Amino acid sequence: MLKIKLCVNIDHVATLREARGGVEPDICKAAKICEESGCAGITVHLREDRRHIQDNDVVILRDIVKGKFNLEMALAEDVVKVALNVKPDMVTIVPEKREELTTEGGLNLIDNENRIKDVIDRFKIKNIDVSLFIEPDIDKVLLSKKLGANFIEIHTGEYSNANSDKDRERELNRILKAAKYAKEIGIRINAGHGLNYLNTESVLDCDGLEELNIGHSIISRSVFVGLSQAVKEMIQIIKKKGI
Ligand code: PXP
Repeated sequence: MLKIKLCVNIDHVATLREARGGVEPDICKAAKICEESGCAGITVHLREDRRHIQDNDVVILRDIVKGKFNLEMALAEDVVKVALNVKPDMVTIVPEKREELTTEGGLNLIDNENRIKDVIDRFKIKNIDVSLFIEPDIDKVLLSKKLGANFIEIHTGEYSNANSDKDRERELNRILKAAKYAKEIGIRINAGHGLNYLNTESVLDCDGLEELNIGHSIISRSVFVGLSQAVKEMIQIIKKKGI
């Protein structure tokens, strides 16, 4: 079985900083602590509205992150240009609505097919991996492959938000099926959104899963136990099944 990696999304360290518009808490320090605590990489989302991560954060993080640096972004041209200049190891293309609290739903690949293909090509020419954040549906996995993405990130939000065991089971099966198909057709697999200390373990059964992007639950837990401990606890969960 593959060793599954944890990339910690530190957006909400910046959310706290932006609440006062100052410099604390320092996201570089947060990234350093996460990496020293054993995660494989750092993820941030440069939103069009710049509500948490700012352009300059991305520039600085590129320099200090030692592991994988994954930049989440929508298809807005100004953000694409920042990403092409900064050259993260990977970009994860996500849908974005200004009024949403966090990313809701996966990409609409059909309506944005030409734009997504164009953006993928521009990153791949620079040797930057591209991941598409999609709902766990077979047709979306296939279209991601056809568009030339290296990775999909399976949206685990429906699974995480399920209100009953039955719904959770159904959503988990969708995720497992999508991952199995992705592996069969040769597109690499990440997953994330809404994962926490209770619901992550089941997702580790995904065939071919390489990376988990987890943010809110880890940053929330860090308020009580500290960031290093919060990261280490999540890594322990992943290690139980992930190695
Ligand atoms: N993956 C993607 C593509 C996301 O947009 C987000 C949220 O920014 C995450 C993972 C992390 O989600 P959460 O903060 O719920 O762990």
